[in-house]
Amino acid sequence: MQNNEVRLKKLLESMTLKEKISQMLQIAPNFYLRQGAITGPMEELELTEDIIYNAGSVLGAAGAELTMDIQRKYLENNRHKIPLIFMADVIHGFRTIFPIPLAMACSWNPELVEESARVAAKEASIAGIHVTFSPMVDLVRDPRWGRVMESTGEDPWLNSLFARAFVRGYQGKGLSDKESVASCVKHFAAYGAVEAGRDYNTVDMSERTLREYYLPAYKAAVDEGCAMVMTAFTTVDSIPSTVNQWLLRDLLRGEWGFDGVIISDWGAVKETIAHGVAADGQEAAEKAIKAGVDIEMMSSEYVHHLESLVQKGIVDEALIDEAVMRILKLKEQLGLFENPYRGADPEREKTVLLCDEHRKLARKIAAQSMVLLKNQGVLPFDKNIGKVAIIGPYAEANHILGGWSCEGRNEEAVTLKQGIVAKIGQDNVIVAEGCDVMGEQLNLSSAIAAAQQADAIILALGEHPDMSGEAGSRAFITLPGKQLVLARAVLELGKPTVVVLFNGRPLEITELDYIAPAILEAWFPGTEGGNAIADILFGDVNPSGRLTMSFPYTVGQIPVYYNCYNTGRPKGRENNEFRFCSKYLDIPNAPLYPFGYGLSYTTFQYSDFVLDSNKLTVDGAITASVTVTNTGKRAGEEVVQLYIRDVSASVVRPVKELKGFQKIYLEPGESRKVNFIITEPMLRFHRKDFSFKSEPGHFIAFVGPNSAQLLEQPFELV
Ligand code: NOJ
Repeated sequence: MQNNEVRLKKLLESMTLKEKISQMLQIAPNFYLRQGAITGPMEELELTEDIIYNAGSVLGAAGAELTMDIQRKYLENNRHKIPLIFMADVIHGFRTIFPIPLAMACSWNPELVEESARVAAKEASIAGIHVTFSPMVDLVRDPRWGRVMESTGEDPWLNSLFARAFVRGYQGKGLSDKESVASCVKHFAAYGAVEAGRDYNTVDMSERTLREYYLPAYKAAVDEGCAMVMTAFTTVDSIPSTVNQWLLRDLLRGEWGFDGVIISDWGAVKETIAHGVAADGQEAAEKAIKAGVDIEMMSSEYVHHLESLVQKGIVDEALIDEAVMRILKLKEQLGLFENPYRGADPEREKTVLLCDEHRKLARKIAAQSMVLLKNQGVLPFDKNIGKVAIIGPYAEANHILGGWSCEGRNEEAVTLKQGIVAKIGQDNVIVAEGCDVMGEQLNLSSAIAAAQQADAIILALGEHPDMSGEAGSRAFITLPGKQLVLARAVLELGKPTVVVLFNGRPLEITELDYIAPAILEAWFPGTEGGNAIADILFGDVNPSGRLTMSFPYTVGQIPVYYNCYNTGRPKGRENNEFRFCSKYLDIPNAPLYPFGYGLSYTTFQYSDFVLDSNKLTVDGAITASVTVTNTGKRAGEEVVQLYIRDVSASVVRPVKELKGFQKIYLEPGESRKVNFIITEPMLRFHRKDFSFKSEPGHFIAFVGPNSAQLLEQPFELV
């Protein structure tokens, strides 16, 4: 046993059962800051001073001085001087806010995402945070669910790359480095599949679907060494994740070998009563500890019931010791016993948070995250275009950070107007709100007057940030209120107009796509949003973002995603008139914009797609190569995508699965041969008996600019 471990064991042995159980509680900082009584839901926790000063961790406190004060006060009152861990939701930046994760994923640039996480870790650690509840790697197919904004999209393999990038970025050189934060992957498992996109709703799927699509990204985060895992609010096989022994003990700890800390989501231990798998708090506590939850976040069933459960012989004290030991180990790894204040530094906080370097990175990532959805010769605007009217609720709005924006401040965000003014000067910019975000007030005459004076128009539309994120489900995922009425009236004028969208989910924008000559998906772009949009609109940056989640043609199509099954009666051609095939009578099967889609200011041509052999052996490799040519007049980046289909197997396989991509930069006229290596492990899947293996037979390799526009070549695994 190592010295540290001996020390921690001794510490554990010196703790009373009650003290140990209190370590397993996580509470909000209010309990330490309170003047007077705690009221509302917090009061219901019924915590005594004794429990509060033995609780193991705090969530949601930030700021060097604040966290240091809490820690100081806590240590003065804690008999063993065991420091608190400070955890928080640092999701897409701490004070410098990067685009929402769904947007960052559209950069198809894991290195850049890693850099953003590194910056977030640096800022958060200086502000006294030790653990971030990130990455959220729930695979998503339903844009009605508001939390799609926190995800990286609908592809398990791409999600896994991003999961790893986030973990690497947060944890940096290791937990002992005080400029890193420990990463807690969430929400284990399959929270992204809530029925009908309604938050917290039932999740029900086959084990095969779970393993094939939903689990890989959590596994990737675990393999990358994330320190913690958070359970989902939802069920897996009719048992809430938080009390699911198969999920937490057999799969996560057993099969995957995860030995870090498992934390419940907020109140989720108690919520098992409402789910209907626990009759009361005592049963909830029993089930959660037996399933392997080490920390109970913001409900108090452990502290109220575990002691008596042990005394009655229902729960083995060894389970508590194991959990507490994991928590103590994490504190040790974070270096908190040596320095309970760790990276917290009120002086550096003033210079590092939101420094120029961090803003620069935020601007770069925001520009790479934006997706040009349509462009009929409108963009890029020439800087000498004349007068530009910015019309719509997002013309001057500063609430562009998006949900979960941590310590980000709206007043520090660069608005669209500010970004445009910085490019072409105040005198060339006219602004008219036209309507508010919710669209109740409509002022068409001022909008039209502004439009009439302009040489070009930017229609700045979108959702309010509160319309996505947790508890942000919507049934109608259109532009809220009167925004479409405003858009119709402005577009009617026929001037060069681009619609810039601010939103946290794929929206239903079929009509807009029909009537607008250009659409830029800007998402919630973060602190440097206005500058990044201006960089794109005026051509200083050529857009290179590609969607990682399909945009539905209409809500009735949901879930619509690219890696689906073929069915026994595939529709084939979109205009197939045969009735008895898998299709709608009134809309296409295809989404409005597919996975992988996005335009550039230049054009790319794909040619000469060849495989160097059409037979692959189990230990061999074949090279798929394609020539990509920049056929336009501007330099630009293209995301060259590789997909594979297993034509026939013992279980049904998706019509295609992303297996590789390369983001390449080409000067006008330049051609590049892009190679992908295909090997047998890329063809493995969960077979009938759940063994993860490939099967010999026919496959198709596809390459192209998105999941719907592909060249193909057959090959065989022999
Ligand atoms: C509930 C959310 O589901 C989770 O993602 C978050 O980390 C916790 N609250 C803590 O804020």
